[in-house]
Amino acid sequence: MTEAVDPADEVVRVRVPAKINLSLRVGPVEDGYHRLATVFQAVSLYDDVTARWQREGETTVIIRGREAHLVGTDHTNLAWRAADLLRQRCGGDWGVALTIDKNIPVAGGMAGGSADAAGTLLACAVLWDLDLDPGELRELGAELGADVPFGLAGGTAIGTGRGDVLAPALTRGTSHWVLAMVGRGLSTPEVFRRFDERQPEPPEPEVSPELMAALSSRRPADLAAVLDNDLTEAACDLRPELAELLELAPRVGALRAVLSGSGPTVAFLVADEAAAVDVHLRLKAELGSEVECRRVHGPVPGARLLQTP
Ligand code: C5P
Repeated sequence: MTEAVDPADEVVRVRVPAKINLSLRVGPVEDGYHRLATVFQAVSLYDDVTARWQREGETTVIIRGREAHLVGTDHTNLAWRAADLLRQRCGGDWGVALTIDKNIPVAGGMAGGSADAAGTLLACAVLWDLDLDPGELRELGAELGADVPFGLAGGTAIGTGRGDVLAPALTRGTSHWVLAMVGRGLSTPEVFRRFDERQPEPPEPEVSPELMAALSSRRPADLAAVLDNDLTEAACDLRPELAELLELAPRVGALRAVLSGSGPTVAFLVADEAAAVDVHLRLKAELGSEVECRRVHGPVPGARLLQTP
C-alpha cells in the first residue's frame, strides 16, 4: 500500500536561464511596441523557481538573492501574474507559494523577470498537474511579456514581432562570454523612447544573412564581427559610462562587446573558456567591485525541471 502524499509536501523546482541578444534590430512601432528582429541566446546564469502547494486560489512570492529588495512580490511581479493567468485559463482554484532564487540581474536587459514568469508557468503546470503542451505554455507566456516564450524555449532563437515569435537558429559549438552586470538597471521604455527621439523612422528590422552564417560557423571571430544592438546609442545617451564599458573589449582581451537588450548588461564575447578566465580577471581589475562580472556560456536549454513531486 502506498502512503497518500500530502499536497502541502509537494514541491516543484524549475531552473530558467537569462538571455542575451546577439543582435537586436529595432523597427517601427505597432500597437505601442517596436517591431524587432533579434537573435536570443540563453546563457548559463539562472534563476530557480520553487513552487509549493498552498491554500485555494492564493499566490505568494518570496524572492531571495542580492537584488531581492528591488523586486515586488505582489501582482507587479511577472511570476505572480504567470501563476494567476495559468489558474484563470485552466479554470481551477489551486494555490501556490513561489520562492524565487534570483541570480539574473533586475532590469539588466537579460529578461530576468520574464525568466521567472517562464519558470513559474512550467512549475505550476507540473504542480497543478495540468495537461498543457509546450506550445500552449509558450502562447500563455507571450501574453505575459515578449521575452517569456524564449525563457521557456532557450537555446539560440530568432525572435520577430515583439520578439515573441520564435524560430530556432542553427548554431554550432558553445560561445563563451563574460557579463558585466552594471548595478543600476535601465528602464526599457525609457531606452525605447530615446531610440525614437534619435531615429523617428527606423527601417523594417531584419536579421542579416551574415549573422545567420556566423551562428553556424564554429569561429567565435565570425560571431564577434556581426554582434550588434540598435539600442546601444540610446542606452549610452542615458548612461554615458556604458560607451566606455563597450570600448573596453580589446583592452581586456575580448573579441567584442555587445549591449544585451535595453541594457545595461554588457556581454563580452571571448575566444574560449581559457580566455574567459583571463578576460574575467581583467574586467574585474578595470571595473572594481561596483560592477559584478560573471563567466557564462551559451546556448543552454530553456526552463527545465530540477525537482518534481
Ligand atoms: O516588454 P516590456 O513590457 O518589458 O516592455 C516595456 C516597455 O518597453 C513597453 O511598454 C514599450 O514602451 C517598450 N518596448 C517597446 N518595444 C518593444 C519592447 C518594449 O517599445 N519591442
